[in-house]
Amino acid sequence: MVADLDWWLFPLHRWIWSDAHRRARKLLRFGETEADGGRDLARASELTNDSRLRCLYLRHAQDEQRHANMFRQRGAAVLVALPTRASSTFEANWLAPGERGLDDLRVDQQGDDTLLAFLHLSERAAAGRFKVYEKALSFDPSTQKLFADILRDEEFHMDYTRRELVRVSPKKHGWRLFSARAHRLWKGYLRVATALASVMGGLVLLVQYFVVLPLFALLAKRAARGEPDGWVVRPAKRSSFISQYE
Ligand SMILES: [Fe+2]
Ligand SMILES: [Fe+2]
Repeated sequence: MVADLDWWLFPLHRWIWSDAHRRARKLLRFGETEADGGRDLARASELTNDSRLRCLYLRHAQDEQRHANMFRQRGAAVLVALPTRASSTFEANWLAPGERGLDDLRVDQQGDDTLLAFLHLSERAAAGRFKVYEKALSFDPSTQKLFADILRDEEFHMDYTRRELVRVSPKKHGWRLFSARAHRLWKGYLRVATALASVMGGLVLLVQYFVVLPLFALLAKRAARGEPDGWVVRPAKRSSFISQYE
């Protein structure tokens, strides 16, 4: 479903990647996410009691660490080839996020079946997105090749997690996938809501600055027109508080 939406938004993805400064920043950020995912998987390999999964998690962690290095190197190469200029810091990460890793899932609090279900969905979404990015980057063959190389690993991750989920949880794997999907949907909703709140906050501030403030300035100017210029000594008002008998 996410991959379909990404194909619909293909022109937008092309635009997002077309700016070389943004491209470099996104690649560096993808590197951070991949390294983070690699650390989670290394931890998962320490915690699991299943020897087969331990080997697979470890290989997966090594793959993610390698992806992190590849993204960092390419990001740095794009960055140093550019002339320095002030540019927008907009990266559209909510729209083109790359691999999301485990979405802050606590590896040490999950069983193997839950972890495998999350990993499967995450890898499947990443593989779908990387296909879109690979096509969108036709103007940058080196970055395009990087995504094509990483995509092969992501497809392997996607397949082995599904296979192992069915092995460790033959009866409940459907339910595990369903609850992992619900969790990801909730996280997706939170991401969209946060992005929307940030845009709405910006709009409200703009309206305040360009509509409400000028209105107050206009009213203050009009009120000031009725006032005499300079210092004015006004006759003292007779107060009823001078004495209680007056
Ligand atoms: Fe990866
Ligand atoms: Fe992966």
